[in-house]
Amino acid sequence: MKQGLMIINGWYVRRQRLRLIIVGSLIAVVGLSHWITPIAGDPFHVIHVFLRKLFILPIVLSAIWFEFRGAIIAAAFVTIVYLPHVFLQWSGNLTENINQLGEVATAWIVALLSGFFVRIEKTALRETARTHEGSVIALVAALDAREHETELHSLRVRAYALRIGAELAMTPKQMRLLGQASLLHDIGKIGTPDPILLKPGPLTDEEWQTMRRHPEVGRRILLLVSFLKDSAEIVYSHHEHYDGTGYPRSLSGEQIPFEARVFAVADAFDALTSDRPYRKKVSCEEARKVIQADSGKYFDTEAVRAFLRVSCEEWERIDLEVSAAPEFLRVDSGNDA
Ligand SMILES: [Fe+2]
Repeated sequence: MKQGLMIINGWYVRRQRLRLIIVGSLIAVVGLSHWITPIAGDPFHVIHVFLRKLFILPIVLSAIWFEFRGAIIAAAFVTIVYLPHVFLQWSGNLTENINQLGEVATAWIVALLSGFFVRIEKTALRETARTHEGSVIALVAALDAREHETELHSLRVRAYALRIGAELAMTPKQMRLLGQASLLHDIGKIGTPDPILLKPGPLTDEEWQTMRRHPEVGRRILLLVSFLKDSAEIVYSHHEHYDGTGYPRSLSGEQIPFEARVFAVADAFDALTSDRPYRKKVSCEEARKVIQADSGKYFDTEAVRAFLRVSCEEWERIDLEVSAAPEFLRVDSGNDA
């Protein structure tokens, strides 16, 4: 799981580094162009004045991407780049110096205001994301307690799925959907009656028909909620098999959403390594053999290969982490700009 978060962090670091390069280049390019364009007395002086205004751009971008502190640091760099021009190219011209220092003050006011408002906005977005996450976890914990006698089943499946996703270097968006869908995969069982859901023996054909409706019910529930609807298709496909023998649509291979194929391996691993009313759990090594044997049949071969690259010690560590501190597994809900 930690490696899963490291992959997400890896994307985050790369994205922030790229943004830093954009902001730095903008300050350098605007500063240099401003320095070399003609000043007063030349018809192109208008370009010189226009370029001065462009210093606002890296400051506002820094506020959006790096929040308050980023805006202040950008304003400091703009000041450092701008001041030599003020005092070297306009030395002795007090009126113009005052005018240009006013420009620097404007840059600082923009930095303070944009940094402040972006911080307020992002804090509100993070709070909303935490609230969404909390409501989803509470809902699935209630469902898990009904079927699995523990509220940790969905959290564990999510942790396993994200670990496989990390191994497959899935993008942050795929990881977010994978995490969300893993948590909510059986939400449709809310409509499955207890005598069917909790039946220890085999189900009759009629009971199976009822049970097999839960992906479709789950899909319909999720489509009603704006922040969950992106995972509806994955939840709808979570009982499809790679060879087309699953339900409800008998999809096969790449017709099944990638996230659903990754989830299927994680869910099977959790099912095999947990006690169920109708059978005892098996060891991690045994579960690996079962999943490997079904690669290309029930499961995506690529997802199985990624799963097998993770050692049993690590799966056990993830299991312990989920049991000890479920909060640790909470992932960014993707509201960061
Ligand atoms: Fe299910």
